[in-house]
Amino acid sequence: MDQHIPVTVLDDLSAGHAGSVSGADLVIGDMGDEALLDRLFGQHAFDAVMHFASFIQVGESIGAPAKYFHNNVSKTINLLNSMARHDVKNFIFSSTAAIFGNPQAGHIDEHHVKAPINPYGRSKLIVEQMLPDYEAAYGIRHACLRYFNAAGAHPDGSLGERHDPETHLIPLAISAALGNTGGLKVFGDDYPTHDGTCIRDYVHVCDLASAHLLALQHLRAQGESLKLNLGNGEGYSVKQILDAVAALVGKPVPHTVAGRRAGDPAVLVADSRKARDVLGWQPAYSSLDDIVGHALRFYQATPMASAH
Ligand SMILES: NC(=O)c1ccc[n+]([C@@H]2O[C@H](COP(=O)([O-])OP(=O)(O)OC[C@H]3O[C@@H](n4cnc5c(N)ncnc54)[C@H](O)[C@@H]3O)[C@@H](O)[C@H]2O)c1
Repeated sequence: MDQHIPVTVLDDLSAGHAGSVSGADLVIGDMGDEALLDRLFGQHAFDAVMHFASFIQVGESIGAPAKYFHNNVSKTINLLNSMARHDVKNFIFSSTAAIFGNPQAGHIDEHHVKAPINPYGRSKLIVEQMLPDYEAAYGIRHACLRYFNAAGAHPDGSLGERHDPETHLIPLAISAALGNTGGLKVFGDDYPTHDGTCIRDYVHVCDLASAHLLALQHLRAQGESLKLNLGNGEGYSVKQILDAVAALVGKPVPHTVAGRRAGDPAVLVADSRKARDVLGWQPAYSSLDDIVGHALRFYQATPMASAH
């Protein structure tokens, strides 16, 4: 596969970091700005759009659905409309396990009922549901890639996740173990799991990146539109994560146990066989040591990142 694909990144830097972009042009702007989109699509002969831009905080979305539907749905419509006007035919969309809501099976495959329980998840499902109509009318084929818990960092520690506020368990645990932040809260230790804490599916960001390249290759080869669940297939409990972080940092993770959070299912694990079958996707970094170890390398190389 040609790994040297020219890329233009459009980001309004509402949550992103200009310094995280290398080897690509960065245009700072809003994906809802149709004049800007028309100019960019007019200037470049793009053949595909990978759409990662979104507000991502589940809790915030419950109190501010308007903000989430405006950014994640309305502005995505602007983006798709501009693609249609400029004849850009391939669309790869960052979707999420949150479209499924409360799981009704151990491993969640693509047929699982879609019943999001918060506006964030609903905003992603709405976009997924619009895409077949954009395909039928304008010929824009899509790959919806539903990440479970994105985690890890570039193996050399040069690039990792920097959210503010940080809500993801692995960076929070690393930050607490390194003494950069106070102890973290474990929400519930009385779930029906082997150690009482919630089990989630952590998928390495580089494996997500390789799935995007395979999806691009698939669409460019006129493959049919896809909706794929992307996970490690292996669930890890909150306690297992804290133990892995403690072992790699060499210090315990300070934490307290708080009550369960509303809407947190006990187990959320992907069945990703379809991605493996259709795209030939093979995650390279499935072990917790890789996922946590690479994240730790990033936070050690970028101390400011773990201070949030
Ligand atoms: N991190 C996860 O575990 C996870 C899981 C499932 C799905 N996803 C999806 O993956 C994508 C990336 O997530 P992330 O964790 O990297 O989040 P992030 O907040 O780090 O990245 C989102 C990016 O989109 C940009 N953005 C937001 N609205 C924009 C707009 N209107 N115009 C231009 N840029 C805009 C932000 O500045 C930021 O750089 C999101 O679509 C998210 O919903 C993430």
